[in-house]
Amino acid sequence: MDKYLGTLRQFEILVAVFDEGSVTRASERLFLTQPSVTMQLNKLQETLGIDLTYQQGRQIKFTEGGKMVVEHARRLLTDYYDLGRRVTQLKGIEQGALSLGLVTTAKYFIPYMVGEFSETHPSIEFQFNLGNRQQIIARAAADMDDFYVFSHPPKDSELATVPMLNNRLVAIAPLNHPFAKRQHLSLEEFCKEPLLMREAGSGTRLSIEQFCAERGIELNVRMTIESNEAIKHTVMSGLGLGIVSEHVLSHGGSEGVAQINVVGLDISSRWYLVYRQSRPLSPVARAFLVSVQAG
Ligand code: PGA
Repeated sequence: MDKYLGTLRQFEILVAVFDEGSVTRASERLFLTQPSVTMQLNKLQETLGIDLTYQQGRQIKFTEGGKMVVEHARRLLTDYYDLGRRVTQLKGIEQGALSLGLVTTAKYFIPYMVGEFSETHPSIEFQFNLGNRQQIIARAAADMDDFYVFSHPPKDSELATVPMLNNRLVAIAPLNHPFAKRQHLSLEEFCKEPLLMREAGSGTRLSIEQFCAERGIELNVRMTIESNEAIKHTVMSGLGLGIVSEHVLSHGGSEGVAQINVVGLDISSRWYLVYRQSRPLSPVARAFLVSVQAG
């Protein structure tokens, strides 16, 4: 049947491109390269024999036929994921799989929690799906994973939240920056310096923007960078200062940057394990939840 209508993977790719509105973002969400997303889209169009998308300037648009296919593909995928869950339930706890949607910053500490769990459940297969806050909200809305990790869970009464670690943001400078030698500096001094900021859609950026909006603070944003690691390296190269989660340094390494003490720059939140209450928890998911709650 696949031969005539396209594969499930192609439908997954099509839906991701539709939801993200861009091949680039869809490729990030699915951990594929852009050319392979484009190739799979083209193959699907060829197999179905109708145009699904077209370019308008730099934007990808969906034809009426494309929208119709997306609608059906979504239903097919929901059923397919559901089937996977039912099979996992039947297999019982020792052989299941767990899928986690993680905001990028959570990748620093979640592996340790998973490692602990895996000691007592060695056959469980974990899948980490990473994205920024906005991308993980989209995954949660589409009910794609068993659990999600956010520091700012979306407001959705369907979602249950289990508090985990604190998430404090810290300021960083290159080792040879004059601020690196200071015991502390004022918020005013810090704000004048060029700052490297995470992209729109990032939870870290949201924390920083909320903090500044509440206090009427203006930052001197020099560059927008889509990854914590890239921010760290760009700080090292002297292009600006950064504000990152403390876990980026404690688990991801702090070599080459100095944590600086900016008086009054107190931005902190908490990490939450989040799950959709209407989604039946598989025995594996229940065991993982209990281990995080006990944690
Ligand atoms: P981010 O999320 O990786 O999207 O910045 C971190 C957070 O939610 O605090």
